[in-house]
Amino acid sequence: MLLPNYNEARKRSKEEVKKEYYHLEGTIKNIGKEKKYYIKTYGCQMNEHDSENIKAMLEELGFREADNYLNADLILLNTCSIRENAHNKAFGMLGRLKHLKEKNKSLIVGLCGCMAQEEKVIDDIMKKYKWINFVFGTHNIHRLPYILEDAINSKKQEIEVYSKEKNIVEGLPVKRASKYKAYVNIMYGCDKFCTYCIVPYTRGKQRSREKDEILKEIVELVKEGYQEVILLGQNVNAYGKDFDYHYNLENLLEDVSKTKIKRIRFMTSHPWDFTDGMIEVIKKYPNIMPSIHLPVQSGSSKILKLMGRRYSKEEYITLFNKIKTIPNVAVSTDIIVGFPNETEEDFTETLDLVNYCKFDNAYTFIFSPRIGTPAAKLEDKIPIETKEKRLNILNEVVNKYFLENNQKLVGKKVKVLVEKESEKPGMLCGYTDTNKLINFIGDKKLIGKILDVEVTEAKTWSLDGKTC
Ligand code: 5AD
Ligand code: SF4
Repeated sequence: MLLPNYNEARKRSKEEVKKEYYHLEGTIKNIGKEKKYYIKTYGCQMNEHDSENIKAMLEELGFREADNYLNADLILLNTCSIRENAHNKAFGMLGRLKHLKEKNKSLIVGLCGCMAQEEKVIDDIMKKYKWINFVFGTHNIHRLPYILEDAINSKKQEIEVYSKEKNIVEGLPVKRASKYKAYVNIMYGCDKFCTYCIVPYTRGKQRSREKDEILKEIVELVKEGYQEVILLGQNVNAYGKDFDYHYNLENLLEDVSKTKIKRIRFMTSHPWDFTDGMIEVIKKYPNIMPSIHLPVQSGSSKILKLMGRRYSKEEYITLFNKIKTIPNVAVSTDIIVGFPNETEEDFTETLDLVNYCKFDNAYTFIFSPRIGTPAAKLEDKIPIETKEKRLNILNEVVNKYFLENNQKLVGKKVKVLVEKESEKPGMLCGYTDTNKLINFIGDKKLIGKILDVEVTEAKTWSLDGKTC
């Protein structure tokens, strides 16, 4: 049994990060024969992508994917810790699974992802959720086959969570959700330690993937017919800072661009590491999409300081204006309201910033204290009603700008990667260069292609269009 430890997770060592290749021992390959698995994924794209790896690993063990958790022999929850409601959702699901397991004793249930890295969660699992068969963390996904085999054979609860990240594991198999756009990890972990954020504890220290491994993966994706890659990391602008040679996101974007993949996106950026050179590279290469996710978190420099964000409102706006010099660019953001000590004036500053930036998209949240983070220790006197009121006001303002920005596109041609049939009957859907969802009437043969679509109608969260 290996349990998580926050003190260990918090430490940042200078220890060199090595690379190892995933390799499955022969004897284990049949443990999933004639069995079905179901994975429920919570949280960010990083988790989505981890689930793509986990699915492929399970299929190598003989498992097949179930269309519903009720038909599965193995159910795995890939969890998220970022806010309390992500926790609640996973624990709610565990409640349902407990009943299922009472009826079907041979059902295997596992938990992985960020919640597995939390001391308190593991403590609860060992005391109150003894029926969960196995747990593994974010640093040892590659160990899944062995942990699962032990859980099946020993019939005891298997918990294997590393507190500290170890090597970068290359060569994990992958079962991608899309045939046209692919997530590609470029780095793991985060060293920024924003005071509210659990990620540096659950995902460990910043480790960049070697450029050659990333480019090899993308060249392969191009050969397989992929049109778009989304370069993933908690703080992609810090890519390469942990190398002992000079190679950064600017250089990587340029190299990825030369692979001739049609579309490149990257996320998430932190304003601190966003260089002028990056902006020039984005302008220079047409296959780097003009769509930047640049979380601001607050419009008050006082709150930004308490959040440990390392920039002021003015510095954010200066960077925002530079990014806006990229032709046709769309900027989206994340905003937290109700951070401890946020006054009405601070909140008004956030609204002022939104009114200035007129974001194309924004994800808005109420501050959620996460055990073990510095912000969770701050005295929080703001009543929940006030926080909810601020969130509602903020949402009204951000929504107004989503619609206004979308309305500017009506009558214009936009380039769309057609992804699938839309939920709207008879229509297809995809995303524009600027990452806006668009629904339009078209033949199914267009799926997987990049084409011009004329925007006919603007809504708050999507566009309608017709093929030109
Ligand atoms: N409470 C509320 N929102 C949070 N986020 C991260 N941690 C918290 C928290 N403790 C938000 C930030 C981040 C996004 C991924 O989630 O806005 O950018
Ligand atoms: Fe969390 Fe992002 Fe800050 Fe890292 S940069 S600590 S992931 S909010």
